Amino acid sequence: MPKANNQTPRAPRTAIAILAAGKGTRLKSKHPKVLHEVGGKPLLAHVIAAATKVVPAEDVFAIIGHEAERVRSTVAATGVGFVLQQEQRGTGHALMVAREALAPYDLVIALSGDAPLITSQTIEQLRDFHLSKKAAMTLLTAHLGNPSGYGRIVRKNAGQADVKAIVEQKNLTPAQQKIREINAGFYAFDAKALFDRIDKLGTDNHHGEFYLTDMAAILAKAKQRVVAVQASNAHEVLGGNTRAELSEIDQHMRLAKCRQLMDQGVTILFPQTCVIDNDVEVGADTVIEPSVQLRGTTRVGSDTRIGSYSVILSCDIGDNVLVQTGCVLEHSVIKARASLGPYSHLRPGCEVCEEAHIGNFVELKKTRVGKGSKANHLTYLGDTEVGEKVNVGAGTITCNYDGVNKHKTIIEDGVFVGSDSILIAPLRIGKGAYVAAATTVTEDVPPDSLALGRARQIVKEGWAKQKREKAQAQKAK
Ligand code: UD1
Ligand code: CA
Repeated sequence: MPKANNQTPRAPRTAIAILAAGKGTRLKSKHPKVLHEVGGKPLLAHVIAAATKVVPAEDVFAIIGHEAERVRSTVAATGVGFVLQQEQRGTGHALMVAREALAPYDLVIALSGDAPLITSQTIEQLRDFHLSKKAAMTLLTAHLGNPSGYGRIVRKNAGQADVKAIVEQKNLTPAQQKIREINAGFYAFDAKALFDRIDKLGTDNHHGEFYLTDMAAILAKAKQRVVAVQASNAHEVLGGNTRAELSEIDQHMRLAKCRQLMDQGVTILFPQTCVIDNDVEVGADTVIEPSVQLRGTTRVGSDTRIGSYSVILSCDIGDNVLVQTGCVLEHSVIKARASLGPYSHLRPGCEVCEEAHIGNFVELKKTRVGKGSKANHLTYLGDTEVGEKVNVGAGTITCNYDGVNKHKTIIEDGVFVGSDSILIAPLRIGKGAYVAAATTVTEDVPPDSLALGRARQIVKEGWAKQKREKAQAQKAK
């Protein structure tokens, strides 16, 4: 509900309704349209982010219907309100069912939940134009090279703000087909004007639905002012009705993200090949090589280098880190001056401390590697704590899982683990101890001692020579 007392008396109480109940038939998907992702986030999450920059979350209402519970739980953390449109009978019907939530406001802004490039500045532009014209309804428009699929704007007189009607694609007359000015699907309404006449919407159209767009002609005929304002960036209005449109929007968003990072001092080689999600942060003088993915809430510090083909999901990477080619890193922390790769795999819950080295074909899971420690080749460390200045030799494997439970391995500071060692958890290797190469360690190793557990070598002198000679004699027969 609107709060009258925290706004100045003259400022109209403003609600934003986001239309998000539709199924998205054209996507041919089992998932609801507004949960399809661009820039690494659901369509609806982008629209909510723009809306909540204009009004508080409590004045934003998402109108949900198809798979309502899934949609609600995906964006519930934003704090917006929800209105259920049980049956989806059109964009006009969506506002009819939201009447109770919206009618107490002075101004209702309606946004399409499937058009995620909209910015808060454009919503404000729409609102301010609406208020300056004292209109009953204001719509945002754009001129598109290919306007097909969008409703077209029929102006009262060319060059004037006033609008006579919006005509949907399927109802265009041959003359109207030439109109390039399209309806973006973003509107500002005087709440009273909207709800006084919304019941006049009918379903006499191609889809048998209540079209919100018909409000333009209904209000114009009732001598209420209907005006249109052009979006300053035409691409902001793009809606994702098809997979191809979603991909176009995604590319737009990601290139814009790369440009923003470059403006902040990040070098991105071949940005067209990089996939960087909207919420990612990168510090200045970091270099991102071609074909890198930075996803989720990843943060990268300054002076770091991220090698080609690395895929990084929601990690926190410090300054002066080197991530070489082909690393896969998830939900982990990598501290300053550490080095990873090529081809390291950090599964969730890892921490690689300052100056640590994790090398080729090394997999870590829920593992902390202390400052200056190294695991450079062909190693698996799971549920392990590695202290400082530890050397983990090539081919070391922790056996953390006994088929039922996971167990911890603790390797204290300064330990040297020889190559090809098998560490059977639960296990503690004390400070400064040595594990001889190829040892299977089953019991705790006290500090400063040597653990050695492998079959003693047998040497049979001359054995190979004899074997060769025997084979040659056989051949000569
Ligand atoms: C709509 C407009 C069209 C405009 C275009 C801009 C209508 C009739 N047409 O067409 O003029 O050019 O947007 O993108 O409005 N929705 C509901 N409940 C419903 C039906 C739809 O919440 O009963 C939601 C959808 O989930 C979607 C939004 O409303 O987020 C727009 O609906 P959609 O079917 O995509 O409309 P368009 O055909 O794109
Ligand atoms: Ca649409």
